[in-house]
Amino acid sequence: MRGIRQFSFLLGIGCLMSFFVLASAIADEGRGSRHGNDFDSSDDDSTQHRNRHRQSHRNRHGEQSVGAVEDPTYKEQCGACHFVYQPALLPSGSWHKIISNLEDHNGNNVAIEEAAKNTIAEYLTNNAAENSSGELATLITQSLLGETPMRITEIPYIRRKHHDIPKDVFQRESVGSSSNCVACHFTAEQGIYDDDFVRIPE
Ligand code: HEC
Ligand code: HEC
Repeated sequence: MRGIRQFSFLLGIGCLMSFFVLASAIADEGRGSRHGNDFDSSDDDSTQHRNRHRQSHRNRHGEQSVGAVEDPTYKEQCGACHFVYQPALLPSGSWHKIISNLEDHNGNNVAIEEAAKNTIAEYLTNNAAENSSGELATLITQSLLGETPMRITEIPYIRRKHHDIPKDVFQRESVGSSSNCVACHFTAEQGIYDDDFVRIPE
């Protein structure tokens, strides 16, 4: 009789303990799922969606950047007629072709002293798309499949990104041509081409 009572007492304690273990495991799981969201613990679907959206923008922001142009010789010599394109926007093979054909550069004879030309060539090829890290440089390299176009605007990835813009937009006086990146990408000088920082001028 005493043996049975003792047994059911122990059984009761056992049940109680497993209940606490189970309860704390459930509570932990609840906390764990909230950890998935860095911003707040709201379970509202739309808030979570907004937060995820904001976070992905923040992550992409830096990655779509190719940095600002740093070489003073390149800026001075090549910035006379147009925006100075970041070296990571083209592969080294393209820069090599462009520098080798400056006497016939888009209808212009670009005359640059040999020493300056070598400095520019070195800067452009050392920092070319395939020699740069970051998402934009990588996307450019991947989309080229080894091709070396003379224009950034001929890169498949870049073409794809501008596919939906009507042709006449590029002909507007405020834009001039598709080569005038800075007309729409107002952060282009810092090397930021993220679509959060685009405004097509009237
Ligand atoms: C005398 C004026 C002039 C100078 C100096 C000049 N360019 Fe150009 N460049 C042009 C013109 C014009 C275009 C064509 C722009 C257009 O189609 O709107 C062009 C286009 C380009 C493009 C293609 C842009 C695109 O559409 O993707 C690159 C790259 C380029 N130039 C690099 C250079 C480099 C590198 C230098 C210096 C070594 C340089 N340019 C100096 C006049 C010049
Ligand atoms: C007429 C305005 C205009 C000009 C000029 C222009 N772009 Fe754009 N670009 C846009 C717009 C608008 C988008 C966003 C397209 C979209 O929403 O997918 C874009 C998208 C991009 C993207 C993709 C950004 C992202 O977040 O996915 C890159 C990279 C880019 N442009 C680079 C360039 C470069 C380099 C030049 C110059 C050679 C240039 N663009 C010239 C308007 C322009």
